[in-house]
Amino acid sequence: MKRICSVAVCGAGTMGSGIAQVAAQYGFKVIQFDVNEVVLEKSRQLVLKNLRFLVEKGKINEDALKEIYSRILFTNNINDCKADVVIEAIIEKKEAKADLFEQLMNINGNDTLFATNTSSISVNELATALNKTERFAGMHFFNPAPLMKLVEVIKTNYSSPETIAALVQLSKDLGKIPVVCKDAPGFIVNRVARHYYLEAMKLIEQNLATIENIDMIMEASGFKMGPFKLMDLIGMDINFGVSNIVWNDLGKPDRLKPSIIQQQKVEQHKLGRKTGEGFYKYE
Ligand SMILES: NC(=O)c1ccc[n+]([C@@H]2O[C@H](COP(=O)([O-])OP(=O)(O)OC[C@H]3O[C@@H](n4cnc5c(N)ncnc54)[C@H](O)[C@@H]3O)[C@@H](O)[C@H]2O)c1
Repeated sequence: MKRICSVAVCGAGTMGSGIAQVAAQYGFKVIQFDVNEVVLEKSRQLVLKNLRFLVEKGKINEDALKEIYSRILFTNNINDCKADVVIEAIIEKKEAKADLFEQLMNINGNDTLFATNTSSISVNELATALNKTERFAGMHFFNPAPLMKLVEVIKTNYSSPETIAALVQLSKDLGKIPVVCKDAPGFIVNRVARHYYLEAMKLIEQNLATIENIDMIMEASGFKMGPFKLMDLIGMDINFGVSNIVWNDLGKPDRLKPSIIQQQKVEQHKLGRKTGEGFYKYE
């Protein structure tokens, strides 16, 4: 099996930043790429802050912090994205992802593997746009990537068994628990979880409960995070995008219709934690 030493992470937002941090923590050489310099700087600061937190907790020492941090190259130059594996975590737009992968394939050699962190775009459709390459699959991390253990590894119709085996091994080498799944709208977790968000927003639309009450009750009943806090963490645009794709791809059933409340939040650019306001306000 191909030995993976370097990982390029494209997109330095909520997910890309977390994936880059994990990869550096687990000893990989990391290239963290984003087109937006402000986001890149934010990612650099966030990684440092998270590593400092680990030092304060006694999980790593100062030397380890420096070593981990020095493994990451933060760049806005796509030509730096040469690696054994490229993980894409940019905006949830099929055309943008396909364009980026095309450029990445031209930059990299014939043995580089490519993975998308998409939450909901069909990996088969992306593979078709990528000349049905056998070196491509989904690698769906969860938010926050440094903490969440699960990775859904999604096979396309063209992924070779070697590609899937290498991405499964990479997930394990990143301290994660990989689950290989098939390409279907929302894969597994996002399909099941859709109702958690949608039913909560229906309760608000019907004026049956408050946001704070719903979150509090769901947490008290055993869920780690209430649906509104979770949507703010995920990002309203991302979560709304997933709802739309799952709804469309499953033939627009009423039970999965995206919520007008969430649509309004996206239109108002109240995207959650990343913009300082979503269902809640953040400092
Ligand atoms: N947020 C979540 O909870 C979550 C969880 C799992 C998977 N995902 C998926 O991960 C991906 C990223 O989501 P996110 O929440 O990190 O988004 P985000 O909005 O926080 O970050 C996206 C980043 O992509 C950058 N970008 C856009 N076009 C680019 C390009 N052509 N090249 C390089 N960078 C580009 C933007 O500048 C931005 O920094 C999406 O596909 C999403 O569906 C998100």
